Amino acid sequence: MDARRELEILVDQIRHHERAYRAAKPEITDGAFDEMFDRYVALADELGVPESERIDRAPGADHTDGFVQVEHRVPMLSLEKLTPNRRDSKGASMPLGEQLSQWWERRREDLELSASTALPVYIEPKIDGISVSLLYERGSLVRAVTRGDGKRGDDITKQVERARAVPARLGTTGNFEVRGELYWPRAAFEAWNETLRAHGEEEIANPRNGTAGMMKRKDPEGLESVGITSFLYQVPWHEGVSLPRRQSEILRWLSEQGASVYVEQTTVAESAEAALAFCEGFGSKRGTLPYEIDGMVLKIDELKHYEKLGGTGHHPHWGIAYKFPPERKTTRVVSIEVSVGKSGKLTPVANLEPVQLAGTTVVRASLHNFVELERKDVRIGDRVEVEKAGDIIPQVIQSISHEEGSVGFARPTHCPACQTPVVAEEIFVYCPNPACLAQRRERLIHFASRRAMEIDGMGESLVSQVVDKLGVESPHQIFELTSERLAGLERMGKKSADNVVKALGAAKSRGLARVLYSLAIRHVGETMSEDLASYFGTGEKLLAFAERYVAGDEATIAVVAPESGSGAIEGLARKTADSIFGELASPAVRRVLEGLAGAGVSLEAKTAARVEVAGVAGKSFVLTGTLPTLKRDAAGDMIKAAGGKVSGSVSKKTDYVVAGEEAGSKLEKANELGVPVIDEAALLAMLGRS
Ligand code: IVH
Repeated sequence: MDARRELEILVDQIRHHERAYRAAKPEITDGAFDEMFDRYVALADELGVPESERIDRAPGADHTDGFVQVEHRVPMLSLEKLTPNRRDSKGASMPLGEQLSQWWERRREDLELSASTALPVYIEPKIDGISVSLLYERGSLVRAVTRGDGKRGDDITKQVERARAVPARLGTTGNFEVRGELYWPRAAFEAWNETLRAHGEEEIANPRNGTAGMMKRKDPEGLESVGITSFLYQVPWHEGVSLPRRQSEILRWLSEQGASVYVEQTTVAESAEAALAFCEGFGSKRGTLPYEIDGMVLKIDELKHYEKLGGTGHHPHWGIAYKFPPERKTTRVVSIEVSVGKSGKLTPVANLEPVQLAGTTVVRASLHNFVELERKDVRIGDRVEVEKAGDIIPQVIQSISHEEGSVGFARPTHCPACQTPVVAEEIFVYCPNPACLAQRRERLIHFASRRAMEIDGMGESLVSQVVDKLGVESPHQIFELTSERLAGLERMGKKSADNVVKALGAAKSRGLARVLYSLAIRHVGETMSEDLASYFGTGEKLLAFAERYVAGDEATIAVVAPESGSGAIEGLARKTADSIFGELASPAVRRVLEGLAGAGVSLEAKTAARVEVAGVAGKSFVLTGTLPTLKRDAAGDMIKAAGGKVSGSVSKKTDYVVAGEEAGSKLEKANELGVPVIDEAALLAMLGRS
């Protein structure tokens, strides 16, 4: 099946199962759902689905170039979650109450407490912001660090201080570390977006992304007027301070020292029923709070138990998170418009009457594609239900009522941006004109993005400005931008402009694979880019091959579709090759590549980073579940750097499955097929990194 079609079906299935799960009528097991989701992630990577369209993207507090990295004294871990559709080993569904009781029982056993001994749990709101670690020396703030990868984070002291997001002094002397969440209260966030709107600038998607973005501003100037603040909840390390003995008292203590905490929003519970009732009750008033919360955190109240309870490399055993189901609201469709993607894909988008949803005012929502739009029969004027997938991208779930006399939205026959007649490919509709202005803008946004050329500081709004105001049309022209020209743009000081120019310099040496991925050629996702780069070595050889291929040269076709066995370029089927080499040989792509080479961008494959490790090189790995210390992406990059392959699904060809916590059906499949299953430690040992 065509990868795009598969992706489309996966998105539909994922949404369907998410709905079923929220309606407490799950049709599949957690494991099967995870597998579906993992397959989506692998395919979306492969196809280079833009960040804004992905359903799996949650902003992380990853390392940003230019920030000093600081090691955490105590690792910043995650939390285990109560999962609404969990099933037990016999396939029976496990209600949340039962899961929580089990968790609680387990803690009692770990602590060797009798069933009749009380083990109170403290419940706090789970604020939706970015976590921060604060070091206070003799009562004064000396450092603020993001979570980063849990072991090392970025130093954001300047930003936090300037934003006045946490107290500069706490009312106690002594040295200690405090952790908490930096967040943007709804009102201040809305006011900020209102100003952006008034200036015709792009709004910030949600308060959490906004907080992360603000705290990663290299120049902290002006942050004091943004309104970001904090909720502090933990003291993981201290000397010369006498701390209370319970979490409930820690919050009160922090509050007495001058930190902002929401003691009044918390409770102590002694049973699973009481705890869940409190969480659910909180959920129903979620929308009325002045800040965003995405769930509740349940913590064993007695701090003396924490050491004995321990944890995994991923989460401590003293706490567990309760997540709220996504919010859903009804509103009205004001109009439907068609947006043009980077590869020319036309997507229907609904403009809505503004509605508050999970912390932001939603005014637009995706309708995915025209087949889906027709199936849902969403019409202009309809009342519709909207929801945020993964609490990020709003989408129209269904139409509740049609307006009298309303008519459906017809598929476009011409591109709304350049008026070129559209072409249909399977369920999608495309604008086939590569010079289309809307496509160009989207392509440039993709070109500069993190997984592509990673041009730091060149986000969507700067790209729009260089397109509209500086006449940039093609990627190579980005490299001709000077600090003087950039400094004339909105929200661009001299210093930021210099930084962008510096970032452009750094982007020139990303290598052929990243360049290929950044061109947004259909079927050329990250993996395909890497395969092409490592097979051809240079842009020149790749282009020469593409020309011979489209001219029908038999030798080149044999590389893709040999008489026997599989092709020399892994994963490249004949039909895909026709499309890829067809585009590569087109004058438009050739011009771009020549322009880039002329601007000093390297079109050489990076081989230095790939140091083959015996035992890993040439082997195929599948990663599943949560690994104790590494993110799956990072583990995958390490395997690839050692010459191994990473695939999204388990088959007989898989050499190893690397399984972490909560590994689902991939693990079952591996066991079924007799594929060796290893853990992170074994993988690190194979890579020679343990
Ligand atoms: S306790 C081991 N308490 O949720 C981590 N976390 O999913 C213990 N969060 O990384 C964290 N509100 O960024 C804790 N009241 C709260 C929280 C909270 C928000 C965030 C925090 C953490 C993430 C875990």
